[in-house]
Parts: sequence; structure tokens; C-alpha cells
Amino acid sequence: MSISVWNWREWLVGEITGVVLEIGAGSGANLSRYRRAAQVFAIEPDASSAQQAQVAAARCVLPVSVKIAVAEHLPIASASIDHVVSSLVFCSVRDQRQALREIRRVLKPNGVLAMVEHVRPQTPFLAGAADAATPYWRGIAHNCHLNRPTVEVLRAEKWDVHILQRRGVFVHLEARAF
Ligand SMILES: C[S@@+](CC[C@H](N)C(=O)[O-])C[C@H]1O[C@@H](n2cnc3c(N)ncnc32)[C@H](O)[C@@H]1O
Repeated sequence: MSISVWNWREWLVGEITGVVLEIGAGSGANLSRYRRAAQVFAIEPDASSAQQAQVAAARCVLPVSVKIAVAEHLPIASASIDHVVSSLVFCSVRDQRQALREIRRVLKPNGVLAMVEHVRPQTPFLAGAADAATPYWRGIAHNCHLNRPTVEVLRAEKWDVHILQRRGVFVHLEARAF
């Protein structure tokens, strides 16, 4: 099944509870899908996308606010967030490890990082193709890498990763810092 017909945004955020931080919210495609959260903070570095996300946030029933910021430097108090959400962002962040350190800092003890991301393909042929295409692709696609080993980086940074679904190169996971 392709990602376009997989209702992944609902799966990712529909049942998430508590105080939520969404990183790299883009134009705010997930924001109206939070049904059970108490409050949603969203950050997005691109000013034009952040403006669109603010429009989407204003239409939400739940309290949602949007700030311009990067995942590597979160304008959020330590240990204040129940769930951090990331969808299709870790392919593009400048520094995955620094972003994970910041996410660890803002999460409460037992807080959860929920992600849908595309990652380096598992088959050697496709992984090689992703490696070859990435230098060109990231130049035209806002630093999007086709070959980021995001699950392995999470584990190396001492996150306990629970993979909920894999669809091709797309992974839906939950991770807890330990
Ligand atoms: C493919 S878009 C996904 C947008 C949105 N999360 C969604 O699912 O529709 C990637 C987003 O990551 C954002 N981004 C890139 N680098 C980032 C960083 N260092 N910190 C936070 N967001 C970043 C981009 O500005 C862009 O909005």
C-alpha cells in the first residue's frame, strides 16, 4: 500500500493525549487531527509554512499554537511535554542527534516520541540507489535525505524504539528515552 492511501496522519496523532509538541509542522496538515490532546504546541522553521500552520491552528477546536523554531533548539521548557510528534521531518533536519537531545530534554519522564518518517531502504539495492540519489535530491527537496538511518540513530542515542508499522521506506514508531 502506498503512503497516499494509508491513513497515516490519523494513526499518528488521532489518539495522542496530554501536552503535545509537533516539530516541523509544515503547513499544519496534522493539526486538525488531534482529537484527544489537551494542548498542542507546534514549531516550524519556514516562515511561510508556519503562517499556513497558524491559519490551520486557528480553525482547531483544541488549543494549538505555532512558533517559528528548529528542532535542534526548541523554545520549550524542560520536562513539560507528554508526546513529541514528527512526521516526515527527520529526513530534513540539519542535525538529527541534536534534535533528539532537545526532544529528550522537553519530554516528561516516560514521555513518548511518535514518528512517521521515511528512512534508508532495507534492501541493499534500494539503499544504494537512495545513497546515490540523495546528494541531488536534497538540493531540490529542501534538504530531504532519502537515506537517513533514523531508527538506528534513535537506538544509538539511547531511545527504546517500538516499530508499529513499516510500509516500504515509511516507518511509524514510538520511542522512549532511557
Ligand atoms: C516534508 S515537510 C513535512 C511537514 C509536516 N510535518 C507534514 O507531515 O506535512 C518537512 C518539514 O520539516 C521542516 N524542517 C526542516 N528542517 C527542520 C528542523 N531543523 N527543525 C524542524 N523542522 C524542520 C520543514 O520546514 C518542513 O516543514
